[in-house]
Amino acid sequence: KGEREENETDKGLRVSDKGFLNTAVIRSEITYIDGEAGSSYPQRFPKSTPEACCRGYPIEQLALHSSHLETAYLLIYGSLPTKSQFEVFQTEVLHHGVTHSDAAQFCRSFRYDAHPMAILTSAFAYLGSYYAEANPSLQGQTLFSKGDKASLAVMDKQIYRLIGKATTLAAMAYRVRQGRDFVTPPTGLSYTGSFLYQMDHLGEENYTPNPILEKALDVLFLLHADHELNASATTVLQTGSSLVDPYSAIAAGCASLYGPLHGGANEAVIRMLISIGKPENVPAFIEAVKKREKVLSGFGHRVYKTSDPRSFIVRKTADEVFKITGKDELLETAMALHEAAMKDEYFIKRKLAPNVDFCGLIYRAMGFPLDFFPVLFAVPRVVGWLAHWRQMMLQEGGVKIWRPRQIYVGSGKRDYVPINERI
Ligand code: ACO
Repeated sequence: KGEREENETDKGLRVSDKGFLNTAVIRSEITYIDGEAGSSYPQRFPKSTPEACCRGYPIEQLALHSSHLETAYLLIYGSLPTKSQFEVFQTEVLHHGVTHSDAAQFCRSFRYDAHPMAILTSAFAYLGSYYAEANPSLQGQTLFSKGDKASLAVMDKQIYRLIGKATTLAAMAYRVRQGRDFVTPPTGLSYTGSFLYQMDHLGEENYTPNPILEKALDVLFLLHADHELNASATTVLQTGSSLVDPYSAIAAGCASLYGPLHGGANEAVIRMLISIGKPENVPAFIEAVKKREKVLSGFGHRVYKTSDPRSFIVRKTADEVFKITGKDELLETAMALHEAAMKDEYFIKRKLAPNVDFCGLIYRAMGFPLDFFPVLFAVPRVVGWLAHWRQMMLQEGGVKIWRPRQIYVGSGKRDYVPINERI
């Protein structure tokens, strides 16, 4: 579908590739997705092959045996941590969960009905005003370099801060809208446990989150930690390529994630299911999608042309959660929609299958408000954004600014006409 421009330059071939369908912008060692491989989906995709690997480890194995924070280390630094490496990493991340009171004040300044993604995005950018030591435009452009231990330590610190503070800022975005005070990150809990504590703690003595819900959320965090060069990771790299500080780059990624075609899809799925209502309304909805009057949120993916392997883990996790919370009333509608779409020629022909965004049903069952769902995607994805950002900052030959070219199709050269002479 690409378009070759007439005048090739001596710097290579310039092609038009709308939506970057075929453009590889970086060589990466982080996540591998084979979207065309057979998946374990029983009817349409009989082969069973791992399709998403983080640093070579299949996502299914990580979901079963690892934790979100351990996978974070793996994604960022390239190998599974030893026990002591993990302990240091976990301690640093949790320690940096505490934010300055000014940042809390900033989060408090939002309207009661502000979308929590708007709060989170702004709060990440706000943090950029604090840490001048991490700002290459203030400190010198070669601030981060592979061979320089001091600069790597500065980089690590920003990584701990961003992962640690992501949960704190997210919890603030949640509580500010309820008029509740903020909770200082606790000690002695896991990363996900600390997040739930900061969200839900109302001053009870000995409060601890439900361990099954904590584990379920941790698995969902792990599944969302990275997924190759999606729109938000690309945005982080594009923004970071100007050598801006990592807080601004992460804020840009967060903004990109917010849209309903990307991280906002988990919110859109539930809004769609609510609008469909009962299972008997599914056929009419499917017909509206086929006429392009509606979008089937939670279906389709740029890379997966089979089922998203993460969607199976989401289902298993949902079963665990529903045992505690009870089934969501929208589940039947979701199942009917899934079944109808998977056997409909329109979706089969276009290789459209469920992506990971039906996890919104789990968030709903756990009691998170609908507009908070994209935040539950953004918090763990900070890890992937940082892994890509670190890789780019330390790549051989330094960073090259991402400055794509266009194919100009506008007017030819013309003379300016003064305003009084225009008709
Ligand atoms: N419902 C109906 N039709 C769809 C859907 C869908 N969810 N997704 C794709 N299609 C159709 C397109 O209209 C197109 O049809 P055509 O060839 O007749 O024009 C065909 O399938 C191919 O789709 P593209 O739009 O080319 O796929 P693209 O890779 O550009 O987009 C995207 C991928 C954005 C995810 C798309 O599938 C979509 O909009 N899905 C719904 C939103 C969603 O769930 N987003 C979450 C993505 S995963 C994530 O970020 C976690």
